[in-house]
Amino acid sequence: SKGFFTFDPGFVSTAACESKITFIDGAKGVLLHRGYPIEQLAEQSDYLEVCYLLMYGDLPTTEQKAKFIATIKNHTMVHEQLRNFFNGFRRDAHPMAIMCGVVGALSAFYHDSLDISNEHHREIAAFRLISKMPTLAAMVYKYSIGQPFMYPRNDLSYGENFLHMMFGTPCEESNINPVLARAMDRIFLLHADHEQNASTSTVRLAGSSGANPFACIASGIAALWGPAHGGANEAVLNMLEEIGDEKHIDTFIARAKDKDDPFRLMGFGHRVYKNFDPRAKVMKQSCDEVLEELGLENDPLLKIAKRLEKIALEDEYFVKRKLYPNVDFYSGIILKAIGIPTEMFTVIFATGRTPGWIAHWHEMISGPYRIGRPRQLYTGSEKRDFVPVDKRK
Ligand code: SDX
Repeated sequence: SKGFFTFDPGFVSTAACESKITFIDGAKGVLLHRGYPIEQLAEQSDYLEVCYLLMYGDLPTTEQKAKFIATIKNHTMVHEQLRNFFNGFRRDAHPMAIMCGVVGALSAFYHDSLDISNEHHREIAAFRLISKMPTLAAMVYKYSIGQPFMYPRNDLSYGENFLHMMFGTPCEESNINPVLARAMDRIFLLHADHEQNASTSTVRLAGSSGANPFACIASGIAALWGPAHGGANEAVLNMLEEIGDEKHIDTFIARAKDKDDPFRLMGFGHRVYKNFDPRAKVMKQSCDEVLEELGLENDPLLKIAKRLEKIALEDEYFVKRKLYPNVDFYSGIILKAIGIPTEMFTVIFATGRTPGWIAHWHEMISGPYRIGRPRQLYTGSEKRDFVPVDKRK
């Protein structure tokens, strides 16, 4: 059925829904988007082409790609009134708090003119979100540092434009390093979709009620924020900085194994991958390229990261539990090297994941669907009568 969840009667906690978008084989470390391996897409494609693939189910022809890119560029600016929303936030608010707010606020600008039962309107919503997420993400950063918002530029690629809006100022021409722009594009691409993860399932559940796409994406941003999910890239950098020096690694490894210690090795393990996360391998290659370009090959955090990875691949505790590096392990090191502050990392993840969220939302509401209604195993009190307060012990 096209329903949100199809329960297997024997396992209430095992819920699955149908999708044609992404396939993962966690045991083999396989990730396919509409059948194409992530390694080939990362090597030979680019982010907007993968957005098209996720949305329409196939890679675009030259003409389709040019039209898609032109349409995306047509929607990169946000309503000038939206700029006022930022003034309601403290400058030191967490960027994900602001992102939840301003993306949800897009509903106030575009929702009324959208009929989500209309295929063309759904497409317009998708374009607006993919176009505006980097603009809003960069605005969140600029607001936090008290610099003026930068308008998007249509002569730049998606990665170049994002770096322009993040680091450009009205005082001088943006000088974008093509290696960093390519790394940015690849980071967005590697985060584009990942099957029924927590935030995508949140978007699908919100969408199953008929909520507008902007509100659904805002719910996905909220779910992504947690350190067990999209917040892990920020947590990885905080962990590496807390370790601080290779000589302290053994202490943290012992803590990660200690059942009584809540500390976990951030960037390791995965709900599905019990093998290398294929995205982590590509991310590591990008990491090496960026650090070499910036002359940071001897970055102390990278040395700690590489030592942690080596231990995780050899130490019996991690090997037995199949705790391999995941997509978040290296992305944070790249983003920090590019100059993006740690608290912005999950905003970058949300920006990259937008086409995946949109594709799943679109897939679900494009055909007959029913509202999602996960059931439960009740383990509370048996039925009992009310006791007046003066009779309670
Ligand atoms: C993402 O779902 C997706 O697709 C998500 C994502 C996406 O693209 O959308 O891939 C993005 O969320 C990647 C994951 C990012 N999170 C982290 O890096 C946080 C650190 N990882 C852990 O919190 C954990 O590995 C999870 C949450 C990712 C997965 O948890 P599971 O599958 O529920 O594993 P588990 O908690 O059942 O752990 C199994 C064992 C336990 O030990 P035992 O009880 O068997 O003795 O492994 C241990 C855990 O204690 N363990 C870890 C560990 N992760 C699991 N021990 C130390 N460090 C870790 N990171």
